Amino acid sequence: ELGGSADFMSKEIHEQPTALSRALSGRLNERFATAHLGGINMDPRELRAIRRVKFLGCGSSYYAGQMGAQLVEELARIPADAEPASEFRYRNPVVEADTLYVALSQSGETLDTLAAAQELKRKGGQLLGVVNVVGSAIARECGSGIFLHAGPEVSVASTKALTNTATSLAMLALLLGRVRDLSTADGKRIVAGLRRLPDQVAEILAQEQAVAEVAARFADTRSMFFVGRVRGWPVAREGAQKLKEISYVHAEAYQASELKHGPLALIDNTMPTVIIVPDDELLSKNIGTIEEIKARNGAVIAVTNAELPEGLADAELRVPRNETELDPILFTIPLQLFAYHLAAKLGRDIDRPRNLAKSVTVE
Ligand code: BG6
Repeated sequence: ELGGSADFMSKEIHEQPTALSRALSGRLNERFATAHLGGINMDPRELRAIRRVKFLGCGSSYYAGQMGAQLVEELARIPADAEPASEFRYRNPVVEADTLYVALSQSGETLDTLAAAQELKRKGGQLLGVVNVVGSAIARECGSGIFLHAGPEVSVASTKALTNTATSLAMLALLLGRVRDLSTADGKRIVAGLRRLPDQVAEILAQEQAVAEVAARFADTRSMFFVGRVRGWPVAREGAQKLKEISYVHAEAYQASELKHGPLALIDNTMPTVIIVPDDELLSKNIGTIEEIKARNGAVIAVTNAELPEGLADAELRVPRNETELDPILFTIPLQLFAYHLAAKLGRDIDRPRNLAKSVTVE
């Protein structure tokens, strides 16, 4: 089953270009510069009536939802957010008729997400599922939605499912945008960007050795920050989560913008920071954050597609350029490799991290 791979996590990381191609297959329409998502069963009039989008999921599926919310706001200009399904189900949520609720789950069996979906249905909410496992409880509860086509994911730490979830949500955002004010030119730009993703993910994976060397340099660290702004923020959260899950090294994700409002007090030469630095409108802000960290002797690992000033970061994990809206999908990949190789260096049992299960189907 493992083929030539050392473990399922490594196998699934390397399956991403193929898994992504499957998620995109038959779903991009060049002529109308939009996405074709047959399973959502909504006509343009119904899509236009949506006034808000809320994504619900747990763990990596929740972080993918945060990426999706950003995409929906950018491409469709509809207010959107993500919330852990585990919180939503217990807080007697206000369910609105013109909100589209989207349940996200690789397994389709996570109890918290299933319970959130059931609560929504009971209150008459409009619900879609974005699920990997066909025939799973959440897929059945939602009735319509998007299948991930990632193939079976065995490793507890999610990799290809998160990539396919974020990509599916980019297609949903594109569709919502194109029934509103997203221009044909911008739609075409996103369609072309989505088509480039599988090859670009392969390009990142080809640099695995370089990422492994950086990870090895930081393997004796006790604690790390992961920071990013706006599109980079869910990337930072997902990167920190991966590291915690499989290496047991403490990692805390923070908005780069909030660092100076508290956690900067913790930065010294024992506390490295991974920072997400896309070449976008926030580049100078992120360079400023790196300088603040360096001034306190903190080591900096930059995940970037920008040309940073020589020697600014102690290490760089390189990412190819695509449309800025799609950056989170690509920037997540080197952090999977980083967590994987740091955990491997520490001799952890990568496919069976302590205290965790692949899908949590109990209270
Ligand atoms: C957690 C797993 O319990 O469930 C995570 O450890 C996963 O890796 C999360 O992201 C959500 O799972 P699913 O199947 O609902 O996407």
